[in-house]
Amino acid sequence: MNNSLLLNKALKFLFQYGKESGLSEETIINRQHMIKEEIETTGTYTHTLEEITYGATLAWRNSAKCIGRLFWETLDVFDARNVNSQEDVAKHIHHHIHHATNDGKIRSTITVFPEISSSQKVQLWSPQLIRYAGYQKESGDILGDPANLELTTVAQNLGWQGEGTPYDILPVIFQWNEEPPSVVPIANEEVLEVEINHPINLDWKPLNLKWYAVPIISDRYLEIGGLSYPAPFNGWYMETEIAARNLVDSYRYNRLRDVANQLKLDTTSTTTFWRDRALVELQHAVYSSYRQAGVQMVDHYTAAQQFQTFREKEEKLQREVKGDWTWLVPPVSPALTPIFHQGIINEELSPNFIKHKRPKLFKKISEMTESSRPTGCPFHS
Ligand code: ARG
Repeated sequence: MNNSLLLNKALKFLFQYGKESGLSEETIINRQHMIKEEIETTGTYTHTLEEITYGATLAWRNSAKCIGRLFWETLDVFDARNVNSQEDVAKHIHHHIHHATNDGKIRSTITVFPEISSSQKVQLWSPQLIRYAGYQKESGDILGDPANLELTTVAQNLGWQGEGTPYDILPVIFQWNEEPPSVVPIANEEVLEVEINHPINLDWKPLNLKWYAVPIISDRYLEIGGLSYPAPFNGWYMETEIAARNLVDSYRYNRLRDVANQLKLDTTSTTTFWRDRALVELQHAVYSSYRQAGVQMVDHYTAAQQFQTFREKEEKLQREVKGDWTWLVPPVSPALTPIFHQGIINEELSPNFIKHKRPKLFKKISEMTESSRPTGCPFHS
């Protein structure tokens, strides 16, 4: 990015931050001058902790796909911009999981790693800090989460070995500068998980359904005032994410028919509506299991209502809420929520979370075969 573009973005962010935080005109102008000088001499600039903190909350407020934005002001921000080794990065990863999980009373959390053009570079390869492995079996079937087949192969080619269950927790993979990728094992004890049972049809044990408590997204940069930070962040789940997508999509765990069988529904024709009925029962099961286990989760009605409140609050402050309708409407009973019946403009504001691509090395490692795998596991650290 050239200096004048960066300066432009920096000043714009500074102005918004200053205004919304009630800084005096003088303070804002002084800071803008400082940044201008810093960019002119170094080609970049450094955010203060307050700027990073406010910028991160703004990125959440601006996330067009997120229904949970009412809580944008309550985000715990951890500043990890001064990490200087792989061990440091790993420590912050474990710390994030621990802090966010909080025995189920989930805390919205973000950990901010060094800016992407700085000399200490962290590249996160895992799309979330917690993911279940997916294995392609010889029969052609897939065991585990098919969404993570490639990530699993990469982990294996870097020396990791799973147990071969449908819910093996993958290590976090990241790259530090130009070093070989690091593999950070995530112990089972670190990960809070919830077994899915049904409050009425009590015997769901044979289905062996479960999910983890905290979705910690790690394939997006936090972009603030022209600077981009690798920055894992999390909120808590809405039940449909697990009960209508992760466990149900035909290209994910694909378990709807098993649920229907457990409920003894007639699955011979779609016109018995067995899929819809099983889907609703699964929402109920996932939601009440999380609640029962004391793990924070929101249902799609409450979430939609909270989104309305968020919109009203923002509009009172003369800020129009942008959003991606296709993401905001829940996948179950969408027309029963107000969002379905309203229009919303989809526009990407800054600060925001910007999805990044996986590096070429990821692909290369995923394509290594058994015989081309380097011996002695040089990638493992
Ligand atoms: N849909 C993703 C998943 O099922 C998580 C996305 C973020 N969700 C959230 N509630 N913050 O893992």
